[in-house]
Amino acid sequence: MRKPIIAGNWKMNNTKAEAEELLTALKPLVKDVKGVDIVVCVPFTDIEKVKKLVKGSKIRVGAQNVSWADKGAFTGEISAAMLIEAGAEYVVIGHSERRQYFGETDETVNKKVCKALAEGLKPIICVGEKLSEKQMGITEEIVCLQTKAALHGVSRTQLDEVVIAYEPIWAIGTGMTATPEDANQTIRAIRNAIRDAYGDVAQNIRILYGGSMNDKNARDLMAQSDIDGGLIGGASLVAEKFEKIVN
Ligand code: PGA
Repeated sequence: MRKPIIAGNWKMNNTKAEAEELLTALKPLVKDVKGVDIVVCVPFTDIEKVKKLVKGSKIRVGAQNVSWADKGAFTGEISAAMLIEAGAEYVVIGHSERRQYFGETDETVNKKVCKALAEGLKPIICVGEKLSEKQMGITEEIVCLQTKAALHGVSRTQLDEVVIAYEPIWAIGTGMTATPEDANQTIRAIRNAIRDAYGDVAQNIRILYGGSMNDKNARDLMAQSDIDGGLIGGASLVAEKFEKIVN
C-alpha cells in the first residue's frame, strides 16, 4: 500500500506572519489524521520559521526549488545543503511555472533531482502536458518522456524517496481539473514508464495529481486506483480547504 501525500505548494505566497497565521489554524485541524503524509512547500525565507511552527505536528516542510550545484558562483541560487539546514525535507522540482518562466528544462530538472537525492532531500518531481499537447493526443508521450528524463541516473534505492506529481498545465490555477478517470489513466502511464525502467518497484512510487485540486474534487480524485495524493496550490493557502483535503 502506498501512503498518500497531500502537499501544499504555497508558491510565492505567505510572509512569515501569514505563514504563522495559516499554520496556527491548520495544525489543530490535522492533528488526529492518520495514514497520510502532510507537506507544505514554502518560500525559502519561510522554511526555518515554518519548521519551528510545525514542530510536534505531522506536517513536514518542503522547498519549491533547489540548485543542481553544491556551492559557489551561482547568484540567486540555493543549495540542497542550505535547504536541509533550514529544515526542508522535500523539494518541488520542475514545476511548470519554473519551466515556463525560469527556463528549466528536462535536463536541468534531472540535474536537480540527482542533486536533491544525493544530499538527502525528497524530490517532488512535476510533469504535465500543455493544453495544445493534450489536444494533439500526446499527453502520455509527453509526461512519460519528462518522467524518464527526470529520473535519468537515479538508482533503484534512490527511487524510494521520489514522489512524482502529474500536473496538467492547463489545469493549474484555472479551476479546470482533469477528470479523475483521465488523471488516473495518465498516472498509470507514468507508473508503467517507471516500471519499464525499474521493474516492480514502480508499484511503490507515489504519484500525485495536481491542478485545481480542492476540497470539493479531492475525494473523487483520491478514489482512483493510481492517484496517491495531491499537490495543491490555491487551496493550500486556506487552512479549512487544505484540512478538508487532508482529512
Ligand atoms: P493549483 O496549483 O492547485 O492552484 O491549481 C497546483 C500547483 O501548481 O502545484
